[in-house]
Amino acid sequence: MDLESAQESFVRFLGQLQQDCKIGFLEWVCKEYSPSALEPDHMDLLKEETEEPDVLDEIARDLKAVLPLTALSPGEPQFIPDEGSSSEKTTTLHVDSFLYPEEEDIDQLCSQLGISRSYCLHCASWRTAPLNFISHSMSRDEVRYIFGDLLPDLTGKTVVDVGSRLGAAVYEGFLHSKAASPVGIEKNAYFCEIQQRTVTKYNMAGRVKIVCSDVLEQGQLLASADVVVLNYVFEMFRTLEERARIWEFLFSTVRRRGTILITVTSIQDCWKPLPFNTQLELDSWVVEMETGADPSNEDLTNLHLYCVL
Ligand SMILES: C[S@@+](CC[C@H](N)C(=O)[O-])C[C@H]1O[C@@H](n2cnc3c(N)ncnc32)[C@H](O)[C@@H]1O
Repeated sequence: MDLESAQESFVRFLGQLQQDCKIGFLEWVCKEYSPSALEPDHMDLLKEETEEPDVLDEIARDLKAVLPLTALSPGEPQFIPDEGSSSEKTTTLHVDSFLYPEEEDIDQLCSQLGISRSYCLHCASWRTAPLNFISHSMSRDEVRYIFGDLLPDLTGKTVVDVGSRLGAAVYEGFLHSKAASPVGIEKNAYFCEIQQRTVTKYNMAGRVKIVCSDVLEQGQLLASADVVVLNYVFEMFRTLEERARIWEFLFSTVRRRGTILITVTSIQDCWKPLPFNTQLELDSWVVEMETGADPSNEDLTNLHLYCVL
């Protein structure tokens, strides 16, 4: 209340007093609230009396200690607009604004209840989490970086993308490198057909080749390749045993000195879970080189560059 309203209220209040009380009341006010009574200590006291939020905070703390998180009474019936009577599938959470006034309070409440702020539109479950997104193709940034920055001049060279899928790396090799032959090896006939159609439509057939085959059948092509690209090829598509067999095959086949391997993720990580029949010595096969990728770009930092010894 501002001063003017306080004064008006005070005058109104005086008007309500019995005539014979007025003098006594005003004397009491003067005595209790005289300038000497308004010394610092007293002022502080007055302030404390009027600093509502602290007291309210305290009250809220007390109440939180005795109430459940929803602040509902035991068995209290609920009729939520648009949801009808209470049900297990409710999409409404009771959050008492007196007890939990801030947004952060709601976050804290959710974490205490082990729920997120969202619910599933299909089953109304509160147990939701952010989705993971995974790509089976290289991003534009990745292919541009590989052919624009990472690889040397590819004039006359053969670049093989193992498991070429939609053909992202193969098309970029055609468009933005001088590679004589960008080749995609893909086992899945559906994707081979799609790549082949694209190659024809965009007049790439003069240099680009799509080989519809299992990589295990392409020993000769791999042995003669100058660059072999392996973008997370087998992890989502082959069993551990198949992956171990394919890496044993690559290890013994890609042997030409100076051949460049580009992998996502590192060969070390690809090999970690694999049940190899023979011991593969990475150090005897390739040497890893710096990519110089911007460390803040997660796509690019997953790229690894090796040179066959
Ligand atoms: C993650 S995608 C790679 C996509 C592509 N290289 C790119 O970077 O955009 C892996 C692809 O490898 C193929 N693949 C898996 N195992 C293979 C194999 N043994 N021989 C040939 N292709 C294979 C899968 O069918 C899938 O399309």
